Amino acid sequence: MKESALRESPYIVQQANIVHTWKMTPLERFFEISLSGMESLNHDPGQFVMVSVPGVGEVPISVASSPTKRSSFELVIRNAGKVTGAIHDMEAGETIGIRGPFGTGFPTQVLEGNALLFVAGGLGIVPLRSLINFVMDNRRDFGKVDILLGSRSPKDMLFGNEVEIWNKRFDVNFVCTIDRSDPDWKGNVGLITSLIPGVTIHPERTFAVVVGPPIMYRFVIVELLKKRIPENQILVSLERHMKCGVGKCGHCQIGEYYCCQQGPVFPYHKIKNRHEAK
Ligand SMILES: Cc1cc2nc3c(=O)[nH]c(=O)nc-3n(C[C@H](O)[C@H](O)[C@H](O)COP(=O)(O)OP(=O)(O)OC[C@H]3O[C@@H](n4cnc5c(N)ncnc54)[C@H](O)[C@@H]3O)c2cc1C
Ligand code: FES
Repeated sequence: MKESALRESPYIVQQANIVHTWKMTPLERFFEISLSGMESLNHDPGQFVMVSVPGVGEVPISVASSPTKRSSFELVIRNAGKVTGAIHDMEAGETIGIRGPFGTGFPTQVLEGNALLFVAGGLGIVPLRSLINFVMDNRRDFGKVDILLGSRSPKDMLFGNEVEIWNKRFDVNFVCTIDRSDPDWKGNVGLITSLIPGVTIHPERTFAVVVGPPIMYRFVIVELLKKRIPENQILVSLERHMKCGVGKCGHCQIGEYYCCQQGPVFPYHKIKNRHEAK
């Protein structure tokens, strides 16, 4: 784990300021956060923070921004229940608690020099955006980049403006699809798995990075294996229920791994036979 930018004890909550917040979809809100008295979160793409509201509770949330953005960091939070609902009710200028960053993120140094195939479904674009923007800011360090994005419908697609920028780049192959047809939609309709056969891959030099709901990544991995990408070059980010975030409570256990420490990012070969990861 990267040394925390926060205090030495991982249990100590750091006060953070909501700089800016806006509603992305009926369910998701964007938050720009700055840490009181600290320059940056100093995270790796794929890591998460524990976000707390006093008197309500604490939840794990992926960092959505690249570490190359230093003065503040960004979160996208879906209103799923008690704590996330309370965070949704907060305005710019209010204070939340942050612990972290925690977990093992994407191995950016291992990825350097390789072709990258990003596959994101639904809210999976949130942790993946941190890595994609990191790669965009260090584009010369990486090979060919393909981004495949799947959403339920056009209105569920997060980061529409940024997606448009990725789409226009000459050094990125961007393809998206929606599950359900929409009268105004001119693009692909169908599951994200349908996009994989059309991508040209040199398997020995490609890392695939897959983030999305379990039902999606299971079928995506089948397609990636058909393309002969080695299992240790398929990276998956898993979501488990978490309490402590630091390997003490056992809530997030997957076999011998604690998802909050050895994960949430795993190479596929490490978790493929774990029923807890299915
Ligand atoms: C590593 C990690 C990164 C995450 N990143 C994000 C993110 O970037 N944005 C985001 O919106 N959410 C993210 N989540 C999910 C988020 O933590 C849960 O939605 C949140 O904990 C729900 O808490 P609550 O108090 O609002 O809901 P509760 O009232 O506790 O529960 C509401 C419902 O959500 C379910 N739930 C609780 N925790 C999880 C979980 N970990 N995974 C799936 N379902 C859960 C409960 O079973 C229940 O059905 C992440 C989870 C993990 C483990
Ligand atoms: S959340 Fe407590 S051990 Fe992982």
